[in-house]
Amino acid sequence: MLKEDKIKLHWDSKGSTILDEKEIAHQTIEFINPCQTSSNDSIFDLWIQKNDQVRTEEPNGRIFRADNLLLMKFLIDNGYRESFDLIYIDPPYLSSSAYNSTVKIKETANNTSDYVSRPVFLDHGTDGMEEYLNHIYPRLKMMKELLSVKGSLFVHLDWHISHYVKILLDEIFSSANFINEIVWCYGGGSGSKRHFHRKHDMILWYGKDKEYIFHPQYRPYTAGTLERGLTRVKGDKYQLHQEGALMQDWWTDINKILSPTAAENLKFPTQKPEALLKRIILAASNQGSLVADFYAGSGTMASVSQELGRRWIICDESPIAIQTSLERLIKQGVGPFTLEEISDAYQPPAEPCFQMRQREPSPVASYLRMKPPSIQPFNESSALMLLIIEDYKAQESNLASLKEDWGFKNLIDFWEVDLNYDGNIFNSEVQVLRDKKVYDDSLSTSIKLRVPLRNEYQVAIKVYDIFGDSTMQVLEWSK
Ligand SMILES: C[S@@+](CC[C@H](N)C(=O)[O-])C[C@H]1O[C@@H](n2cnc3c(N)ncnc32)[C@H](O)[C@@H]1O
Repeated sequence: MLKEDKIKLHWDSKGSTILDEKEIAHQTIEFINPCQTSSNDSIFDLWIQKNDQVRTEEPNGRIFRADNLLLMKFLIDNGYRESFDLIYIDPPYLSSSAYNSTVKIKETANNTSDYVSRPVFLDHGTDGMEEYLNHIYPRLKMMKELLSVKGSLFVHLDWHISHYVKILLDEIFSSANFINEIVWCYGGGSGSKRHFHRKHDMILWYGKDKEYIFHPQYRPYTAGTLERGLTRVKGDKYQLHQEGALMQDWWTDINKILSPTAAENLKFPTQKPEALLKRIILAASNQGSLVADFYAGSGTMASVSQELGRRWIICDESPIAIQTSLERLIKQGVGPFTLEEISDAYQPPAEPCFQMRQREPSPVASYLRMKPPSIQPFNESSALMLLIIEDYKAQESNLASLKEDWGFKNLIDFWEVDLNYDGNIFNSEVQVLRDKKVYDDSLSTSIKLRVPLRNEYQVAIKVYDIFGDSTMQVLEWSK
């Protein structure tokens, strides 16, 4: 033990989070095989789209809707100890803020619009310091258990709390395993006349041990270096390298996502740029590594990991974060992935609403009403199935926040179809998405599918609405 590791952060309730007696329930909610459409009228041919490969591939990633403390306990108890080569986290910062995701609803015909502000998460203020430390301390300890021997943890924070967390990380990982304090500098936004603009975040990087994975990253040489060359200034030993100069621990070349029209902008507060995650993932993991983000937000880590050939697990407890991540990965057209839930008390799955036994809409719950499906033979082996959403009603409490009585098309974010619902896990085979990020009434609420010819169908439809709620209906059809 290093001498400095005897120095620890103390607070009265330190170590009070006890997990042992909690009973953890795990449930797979959805198996998602991304196959998206936004079309209104053409036939969506599942066979051509998927080469008949429905549900054959192993999922490459797992999204968990959960408190990450429970999830990490579940992972440790279920064979994931020492499995992750990289964990990146971007937790709350003790910033005293309530983070909302604001989106626009618009009706084309009479040009009315409104904004919906959806709560995502609440960050503690300095009076919640003790609560914050009690939150982060046991979680960081579990992350260490989950890291492989060559694994790394990157903790993204800012000036509010990073110095306290650094001391906790030294205690948990040992200061000898502290590799870098990366300073990410960015511009934009407003400033204060009482102090310098606060325009950087800190990313604390710890290795589990000495043999951590590291692939050096490079930046372009400055114009001056390129003009002069290195040899003249530093001597004969120094030559310019083709890859560029070795990257330092301060990064000024990646901007925050500021423009509301940026393609990357998913209207998720605190969303981090893909370029930032790309640098971290490339530096500290290998192709095929298992990586995680336990505070996933909009799913940046999963999206970039997928692009770079890593397997991933992400987790968030906010429905808007989960929904944003789901939609992002479906749009990206990634390989199959799952949506799973961890809770500390078993809750049976919500009872699906059957067409034959139509549930009366309750005044508070959301409900979905589909038209009875129309199914016509197409040829000897396939049929054409027409699915139409007749009505959708969002939860009463959510509707109260709107100024107008919006049509149901405005309130649906996206919807999915399981052509062969097994009564247990929703197997999302087709997803109907919006083209744009404005919630106008152009969303397609019908779909014509060419499907294998059968005598009976049990089709499930799941709608995600703009408030982050999901509702399912099962349609049964027989010849
Ligand atoms: C700063 S945001 C992450 C943003 C993300 N890096 C991105 O690029 O979009 C923090 C996220 O942590 C989630 N969160 C906070 N406490 C959590 C907990 N105990 N378990 C799971 N998620 C949590 C919040 O819901 C929020 O989405």
